[in-house]
Amino acid sequence: MLFADLVGSTELAGSQDPERTRVLLDRFYDAMAAEIERAGGTVEKFVGDAVMAAFGAPAALEDHAERALHAALAMQRRLRELFGDTLALRIGVNTGEVVVGRPREGSSFVTGDAVNVAARLEQAAAPGEILVGERTVAAVRGAFELEEPETIDAKGKPGGVACRRLVRALSLMRPRGVGGLRRAFVGRESELQQLRAAYAQVTSEGKPHLLTIVGDAGVGKTRLLRELWGWLAEQDPQPLQRTGRCLSYGYGITYWALAEVLREHLGILESDSPEVAAERLGDRRFLGLTLGLDIGEELHPLVARERLHDSWAEFLEELAGERPVVVLIEDVHWAEGDLCDLLEALVGQVAGPLLLVATARPELLESRPGWGGTHGTRSELLLEALPVSAASHLLDELLGVELPASLRDVVVERAEGNPFFVEELLASLIDRGILERRNGGWSCAELPEGFHVPDTVQAVLAARIDLLPTAEKAALQAASVIGRVFWTGPVYSLLEGVSPDFGLLVERDFVRRRPGSSIAGEREYAIKHALTREVAYGSLTKAKRAQLHGAFAGWLERSGEGTDEQASVLAHHYAEAVRPEDVDLAWPGQGEEVDRLRQKAAAWSRRAAQLAVGRYEIDEGLALLHRALEFESGVTEQAAVWLAIGHVNALKYDGEAFTTAMQKAIELGGPSADVYTDLAFQTVQRAGMWKRRPDPKLVSSWIERALDLTTAGSPQRAKALVSRALWDDDEADAAEALELATRLGDVELRSHALDALGNARYAIADFDRACALMEERLGLLAEISNPDHRAEAYLVACDVYTGAGRFANARRSVALLAETAEGLTPHHRLHAIGCNVRVESLAGRWDEVRRLSSRAEGAVEANLATPCPLNVGSLLQCAIASAQCGDEDEAHRLEAKADAIGMEGYGMFFHPKHLRLALVREDLVELRRLVDALDPEVLEPWNYESRAALFDSLIALGDRERIESEAPPAVRPGTYLEPFALRALGFARDDAALLADAAARFEAMGLEWHADETRKLLSPG
Ligand SMILES: Nc1ncnc2c1ncn2[C@@H]1O[C@H](COP(=O)(O)OP(=O)(O)OP(=O)(O)O)[C@@H](O)[C@H]1O
Ligand SMILES: [Mg+2]
Repeated sequence: MLFADLVGSTELAGSQDPERTRVLLDRFYDAMAAEIERAGGTVEKFVGDAVMAAFGAPAALEDHAERALHAALAMQRRLRELFGDTLALRIGVNTGEVVVGRPREGSSFVTGDAVNVAARLEQAAAPGEILVGERTVAAVRGAFELEEPETIDAKGKPGGVACRRLVRALSLMRPRGVGGLRRAFVGRESELQQLRAAYAQVTSEGKPHLLTIVGDAGVGKTRLLRELWGWLAEQDPQPLQRTGRCLSYGYGITYWALAEVLREHLGILESDSPEVAAERLGDRRFLGLTLGLDIGEELHPLVARERLHDSWAEFLEELAGERPVVVLIEDVHWAEGDLCDLLEALVGQVAGPLLLVATARPELLESRPGWGGTHGTRSELLLEALPVSAASHLLDELLGVELPASLRDVVVERAEGNPFFVEELLASLIDRGILERRNGGWSCAELPEGFHVPDTVQAVLAARIDLLPTAEKAALQAASVIGRVFWTGPVYSLLEGVSPDFGLLVERDFVRRRPGSSIAGEREYAIKHALTREVAYGSLTKAKRAQLHGAFAGWLERSGEGTDEQASVLAHHYAEAVRPEDVDLAWPGQGEEVDRLRQKAAAWSRRAAQLAVGRYEIDEGLALLHRALEFESGVTEQAAVWLAIGHVNALKYDGEAFTTAMQKAIELGGPSADVYTDLAFQTVQRAGMWKRRPDPKLVSSWIERALDLTTAGSPQRAKALVSRALWDDDEADAAEALELATRLGDVELRSHALDALGNARYAIADFDRACALMEERLGLLAEISNPDHRAEAYLVACDVYTGAGRFANARRSVALLAETAEGLTPHHRLHAIGCNVRVESLAGRWDEVRRLSSRAEGAVEANLATPCPLNVGSLLQCAIASAQCGDEDEAHRLEAKADAIGMEGYGMFFHPKHLRLALVREDLVELRRLVDALDPEVLEPWNYESRAALFDSLIALGDRERIESEAPPAVRPGTYLEPFALRALGFARDDAALLADAAARFEAMGLEWHADETRKLLSPG
């Protein structure tokens, strides 16, 4: 959008008679309109002294931004020519999405925020100045000189509007490539070979040849020829190489391309006066017609044309008589008929080695079907998109480093093998700060949601789509609503009465027919490029999009495809049909229809969510549930959705989101047995899922509430009992739950009840009995397919087995856990590696822990979104291993990383690790401080890890007294803790026999390192 306003006209009007002013203003209008149209713009309206113009609307133009800026400069120039310094223009230019309405006399047909911003820029510009909005700046990168960015105030724009002042044009077309990136050339070996062969043939036969390279915008025609150019320059004899290009707009430029050739050959500058040019031409007077020179002779236009053709033939023949000639004419799709005629004539007329190379986009073959083909003196080379491998190779080459796979896939997938798109996507990532240069390499951030197609790419694609006839364009747009893959039936039904020719869409390479079809009886097509789809979709108004989405969902359901398989597709289309933001636009005054669509959207979203969660696509399921909420109007239904959301969040161990959702469910649907039992049960079972541990009193109150609300003998009651048993380590509750579960014949509940029963034993350090109950539970897993349940059982097993000192069993459980976690969430996978690290740390196998470190760290990183004591614990254990192996730097790094996670209330898991770190570092001051600060909660009987670390610390501190008071009860056979207690007592009492005993027991458990450490105490020094 371009806004221009005349400054100084009021003074002028005051000092002149009105008639004169009128004439003057008319001249102004005419001149401005002429400049705008010359650059391919459309004058929107004149209001008073202001002009508003659009570029790329109503018809898309791939270089609309460049055109607008060239027009702005030309307008300033014209104004100076016409009025000197008496009048001045303020101009603002901005790029953005606009809505194009029906043009009406005297009113504007283009609306949108971009229009308002352009107007603000114009108001902020000083007389004679052109202010350019940042999106325009990004789109013209390299073609213009602009000043440093500034921000202007604008009403309704809190942060102001960023813009730059335009200084001058640097080139007629935007140079391609991204500044600051390395240059690259990939693939295209065989194409280059064909070009060389064509040249070789021309020179060996001494005959002219016209070779046309045809390919989409940005596919690499020019780049390929640059390579050829370099190769030609090395040939002996070196051919004469000349280049000219066709321009996309302007007046009187029919022969522009040849004019460039001529100027290059004769060294004529564009700024040279006609006299100078004529002098350089010498006796080749008629060639001057190419340059638009007045040749001083009245000729009939047809005669002039003939003379021009002949003189070019003679001229080239003369040149080819000396050495081979290669003339490149770029972008022939923009050439006018006369130039094409001339080029074709030349290959017929000239005798001698002349290779004419032309580049063109496929539309040339539509407008001049006779041009292409491979026969006689002509041939054609179709340049296809780069294969995926070449495109990703191109990325590496441009950046000089490998991109992380996620980002690289985004770029490669979207660019569809078009190197121009690759570059533009990269540039856009750089502009948005997602890719950043750092220490000579590149660092990159996560790709934000809703990453948009860069304006430059969008312009190229929109221009291509606009070249389609109306019906086919409408078909492509309707298809874009359906998706990348679409079917003809619904397109016809969506378009009502329009009959598009899909053959044409195939021919022009927008879509391709797919073998077979996923909907019976329907022809299936795919839109070839994802970007094309996005741009076609973006070219529809929001209202139209919504209606098409609704229509397609209806079609899909009616066509009998309304099954689970299509649930998420239906959910998507119904939801898009009634997006809350646009619903008023799309369905004005159609309340009933909106209600119907909303209900459909909610129902299908919930169904799709259920299916997704069943596949353990947790985040997908959550997104669908949240979307269902937007459309569900009944309070009861909303409460049910919140309950589902809570449950799914528990599955991914997001405690915060879990409780919030459950509270919402209670708020909306009132307290119910279902909600409270799940609240109590999940909280107790996944006790580590909060960053800050919830208040135990609150948890107890949930449990009591659950027990109140459930009816005796119900499965919920069993679940509530299990919850209380686990929370209070209560054996009676657990036994009651087991009895009830058995009666109900519910194997999952039985498994949970056994877990609670075992837990009550574990709490009092009765590891023998705890193991037995736990193994009974493992025996039930054969009948339980719920993978989350199985994973949880193995997790518990690891802990119980290590507590009992049964490391071989613990390791087997680790392996089973790892296997089960594979298909679940990152949190489950963290559990697996975290347990592995823990078991090996407890065993003192530091090398093994070191080996696991990077995997553990990766798993923690992948799981940072949901809290878990194992996030912190695993990193600390890896830190201990590093310190044990003498790598203090690494130990400190890991420790700092663990501390930074900041979980509160889980000291019972973290304190023993801090004790061990101080121990390895022989930091007795710190150790003393830590020991004295230990909370009794950390030293409860079950916490063998804490107590083992405490006993070792007391040895290091020489605290015999405390050893005597705490160690004796811990001497219990069949526990991990026993040898630690023996060792401490042996030390306190200077009793070698006890120490030997401890060493033997460590060894029996397979804890070699601990045995060795014990023996060191036996023979100090
Ligand atoms: N094979 C390639 N290897 C590396 N970069 C390439 C390759 N082909 C093209 N590029 C880069 O992609 C961009 C677009 O290429 P190019 O300008 O040659 O396209 P084009 O086909 O001439 O497009 P247009 O029809 O718009 O003229 C350029 O910046 C170019 O350097
Ligand atoms: Mg090109």
